Amino acid sequence: MTTSPRKLFVTTALPYANAGFHIGHMMEYIQADIWVRYQRMQGHEVNFVCADDTHGAPIMIAADKAGLSPQQFVAHIAAGRAQYLNGFHISFDNWHSTDAPENHALAQQIYRDLKKAGLIASRTIEQFFDPEKNMFLPDRYIKGECPNCHAKDQYGDNCEVCGKVYSPTDLINPYSALSGAKPELKNSEHFFFTLSDPRCVAFLNTWITQSGLQSEVANKVREWLAPGDDGKPKLGDWDISRDAPYFGIEIPDLPEGTPKKYFYVWLDAPVGYLASLQNLLVKRGVDYAQYMADAALEQYHFIGKDIITFHTLFWPAMLHFSGRKVPNNVFVHGFLTVNNGEKMSKSRKTGLDPLKYLDLKMNPQWLRYYLAAKLNAKNEDIEFSAEDFMLRVNSDLIGKYVNLASRAAPFVHKYFGGALDANEVAVKGGGPLEWSNFNIQISDAYNAREYGKAVRLTMAFIDQVNEYFDSQKPWNLAKTVDTDAAQKAQLHQVVSRCLIAFWRVSICLKPILPALVAQVEALFETPDLQWADFDGSAGRFPTRIQPYQHLMQRVDIKQLEALFEPPAHVEPAQPAIETVAPQDPGGEPIAPTISIDDFAKIDLRIAKIVNCEPVQGSTKLLRLTLDVGEAEMRNVFSGIASAYQPQDLIGKHTVMVANLAPRKMKFGISQGMVLAASHGDEKANPGIYVLEPGTGALPGMRVR
Ligand code: MSP
Ligand code: ZN
Repeated sequence: MTTSPRKLFVTTALPYANAGFHIGHMMEYIQADIWVRYQRMQGHEVNFVCADDTHGAPIMIAADKAGLSPQQFVAHIAAGRAQYLNGFHISFDNWHSTDAPENHALAQQIYRDLKKAGLIASRTIEQFFDPEKNMFLPDRYIKGECPNCHAKDQYGDNCEVCGKVYSPTDLINPYSALSGAKPELKNSEHFFFTLSDPRCVAFLNTWITQSGLQSEVANKVREWLAPGDDGKPKLGDWDISRDAPYFGIEIPDLPEGTPKKYFYVWLDAPVGYLASLQNLLVKRGVDYAQYMADAALEQYHFIGKDIITFHTLFWPAMLHFSGRKVPNNVFVHGFLTVNNGEKMSKSRKTGLDPLKYLDLKMNPQWLRYYLAAKLNAKNEDIEFSAEDFMLRVNSDLIGKYVNLASRAAPFVHKYFGGALDANEVAVKGGGPLEWSNFNIQISDAYNAREYGKAVRLTMAFIDQVNEYFDSQKPWNLAKTVDTDAAQKAQLHQVVSRCLIAFWRVSICLKPILPALVAQVEALFETPDLQWADFDGSAGRFPTRIQPYQHLMQRVDIKQLEALFEPPAHVEPAQPAIETVAPQDPGGEPIAPTISIDDFAKIDLRIAKIVNCEPVQGSTKLLRLTLDVGEAEMRNVFSGIASAYQPQDLIGKHTVMVANLAPRKMKFGISQGMVLAASHGDEKANPGIYVLEPGTGALPGMRVR
């Protein structure tokens, strides 16, 4: 362990600002957060930052679909981040955006520096163009028949049926996935970062060796750098420009009168790491250039295995050849899969919804502990299994660790007025409880991101403490405390020894369980525990404890069942309909007859759901932002949270009662009502179905 504080700049990958987080994102944040909290406990100075990755064609198109500008769209997404991050105790120092001014300036400057280094080339390429949308089409937005197996409607880059990889120009009868139009081939001048330049290859080979990349990652990267059959590295030049319209950062210094061009999203995305750091430092009054110029500064990026190329080839090269500091290392993790081994891809919304987890009042630290127990420093996938989760949390975390305190603490209060045995307090090793180099082993495991090992070591130690507690039978010792002074002294020693062991173990678990250990800090009156507290080198020990309050609940199987219960609209309602009399369709009789004039009083309009988000403090309601073709959006609360994920509704059209008197609710004013179908007996036939008009209906159209 180094004695002088390290200076660390740590990031996680910047998530695309197109949706809320899935559990894979949370895993990455938890992995990095544990490391960062551990480093802070060592007294190291850490700046831990992230940002939304806002640019690119998919986000531009999603915003367009939602009827919003890309800026509005990503602002909505950004507003939803805090509930996840606070909810799971992720201790970022800053959250920023790649569309922020710092990032525009930095990306443009890096480009200029690369150009000066002679590593930017321009070339004219042929690309598909959508004549209706008036834009060049990214590969993902061109579809057609697979040239290999003739499957219809395949994407422009590869066939999902036979797996063949090709370029969009190989597709038979290609069409634009945006407009359906037949795309035309058009020429466009593109800019390239010439990674095939021998200088780049030489630099990257050196960097890979110096950075200490995980061996499996380094091997993969070396393959990309190795010469192909033609003697040139397999790694080609990198196309970094896109034509308008594109949501991105403008490429500077283009000749006057030529069309605007933008950086490809992956050029400015990692620059967002620097922009977020700069933004943080400016807020703190620290000079960014000076901070970065410190040779002792260490820079680390936590990322998933799908974005290795960008972080181990493009990004270090961009930094090095623009005269900037390169990453010290890139830490790659595998993918989290849930139960059935299904990968939670970027777009698929399966498995474990982090917000639902929080809504069900499940303890975020259970997940942190469970993931920590499964994580290691390798680029391996890990699986979330509900049974395993419950077992590890209930038997190990609660059964072994938390219970130790709840078993020992009452004795200290009942017989010793809360004081710990003074003879035990500063004892290193604690008699039969052999500490040896336990804390050092755990410390090394954290630093090496071997959290599973850290948890295993900790639990093995806790087993020893529990065995000791049981072998000493304090409940027997307690029987004669009033008459036998020696027994009383022994009882004091046993329970104090166990509680101090518990306190030390809490120090070891603090990076994983920050909120629980905050309670332990209060219990022992030792605030802000540091790693050095373990062996007393920080100069303080607990001497007494506060009245014990229960530290953590067990996982209830009902919570897990609810967590994995599919949303109501996915599973069709049970056909309990049969038990209902035929005159009661849908579970209730038809209402009394009205005249057409009665109906005309109700002004029904087509509304577009431009945003939808959960309502804090309500499990029933969703907050909808509706475009009804008016100057202002409408805010409507709707009791459909049990049936829909907010992101599933964004962009959909529905029908609303537009002339309903506004209603003041606890969460704000509701300006109308959205129409949805449900059965009269909702208990027997759950399910809520929001109405959708036929295609082509526009916001504001009246329903009559
Ligand atoms: N925007 C890019 C990253 C730009 S970094 C300059 C991106 N975004 S992402 O939202 O798709 O993914 C963000 C991170 O989450 C990536 O590190 C990715 O590997 C990680 N994960 C995505 N799915 C995951 C799992 N199922 N499990 C673990 N991590 C996963 O890529
Ligand atoms: Zn095919």
